[in-house]
Amino acid sequence: MVCLGNICRSPLAEGILKHKIAEHNLDWHVESRGTGNWHAGHLPDKRSIAVARKHGIDITDQRSQQIQQKDLTEFDLIYGMDTSNYNNILKMTHTEEQKAKVKMIMNEHQPGYNQSVPDPYWGDDGFEMVYQMLDNACNAIVAQYTS
Ligand code: 4NP
Repeated sequence: MVCLGNICRSPLAEGILKHKIAEHNLDWHVESRGTGNWHAGHLPDKRSIAVARKHGIDITDQRSQQIQQKDLTEFDLIYGMDTSNYNNILKMTHTEEQKAKVKMIMNEHQPGYNQSVPDPYWGDDGFEMVYQMLDNACNAIVAQYTS
């Protein structure tokens, strides 16, 4: 799960998918990253922590990390939250195999729409909508890879 700062959107995506993985007894490993390094080592944004907590999910074990080359080989699927994240991740790839791993997360929910999860950092009211979008996407991911 990759966004810009790895403090707002992708920590929510990580927390939501991990929650569903536990509910479905799946043997999946999920982490999140930012394309930027400004927040490296920081907790998720307190507004993401709050909206996750409201839905029964604790994301306070997470710390922001910047995406690295090795992530492109170690993970099977790499989800960008918006088109900017997606394009920045693609620029890091070196092989067709790596390119094929990179996806826009909302395309799991509505294939082909290339919908971005909006960056909620500069406002206060976007976090619940981001949560709902990512919940839809994570439901679709679980359905797709378990059926
Ligand atoms: P995120 O949100 O990419 O969803 O973690 C942002 C967090 C921090 C900044 C921008 C977006 N920032 O500019 O510091």
